Amino acid sequence: MKIILDCDPGHDDAIAIMLAGSRKDIEILGICTEAGNQTVEKTTNNALNVIQYLGLKVPVYKGCDRPLLRNALICPEIHGESGLDGVDFPTYPQKAEKKHAVNFLCEELLKHEAVTVITTGAMTNLALAIRLEPKIVEHIEKIVLMGGSMGAGNISPAAEFNILADAEAAAICFNCGCPVYMVGLDVTRQCMVLPSVVERMEKVHNRASDLFCGLMKFFNKTQKEFFGLPGGPLHDPLTVASLLDSSLVTFKKMFVSVDHNEGQSYGRTNCDITGNLKQKENVYVATAVDVEAYWDLIEKCLKAY
Ligand code: RIB
Ligand code: CA
Repeated sequence: MKIILDCDPGHDDAIAIMLAGSRKDIEILGICTEAGNQTVEKTTNNALNVIQYLGLKVPVYKGCDRPLLRNALICPEIHGESGLDGVDFPTYPQKAEKKHAVNFLCEELLKHEAVTVITTGAMTNLALAIRLEPKIVEHIEKIVLMGGSMGAGNISPAAEFNILADAEAAAICFNCGCPVYMVGLDVTRQCMVLPSVVERMEKVHNRASDLFCGLMKFFNKTQKEFFGLPGGPLHDPLTVASLLDSSLVTFKKMFVSVDHNEGQSYGRTNCDITGNLKQKENVYVATAVDVEAYWDLIEKCLKAY
């Protein structure tokens, strides 16, 4: 499976990189970054640190520093000042590639057939690439995104963070014509890294589990302070996990529209669960998750390093 991972690391993004990088059956063509959990300079630096810590050979492309229309939204209250607080990295040699992430997406996708594009941040880079080079859509097997919600949001009552970060970009991607798989809060919020999960992963006792546990201890602390949750939801790696084990996440195809009107519902993903609107179904929406199977997969991933 060939993938491009577009992300904003970010604690859970880092684990998504770790999960994809642990698999011999996945070829990561490149990692793209954008502003989100922190500024694009910091998320790029974080992506570079994570791959070099894990010994992964993957090029990293810095992308957009802000959404299409709005000011950048960053989230230090959850991910800290660095965007990956809780762990320290040495100074590594690999730097970001010179090419912009949007140009990389346009050029790289045209070179391959059937690439899976995974987004775990705002969808700005991908939306711009689709507008710049519309033919890339034919080269995308599917888009698997962490974002949205059938129910409540997390950054506003209506919206999930990644979609609210750039709802216009999400609307472009959701309607680009290739299969879109939305892994939203309805399932990711069931996957909480409770202290028992951290204890289990600590037992793996290698570099990968050190990184996982260091990150998750910080993430759990801020999730508790900010949302009152007993553990941080491990949102982003569930995109990758859904590709590795098709029984792990259940999807239902339905019509989804992204609200990008000004107002309280900006960023909401309106999911026509019952099909009442009689509109063409455009998105496979995650409706259920096997949480225990997810932890088994994460543990297997850590052991692979
Ligand atoms: O709402 C969850 C998403 O927002 C995740 O991608 C996480 O990294 C945060 O940025
Ligand atoms: Ca993210």
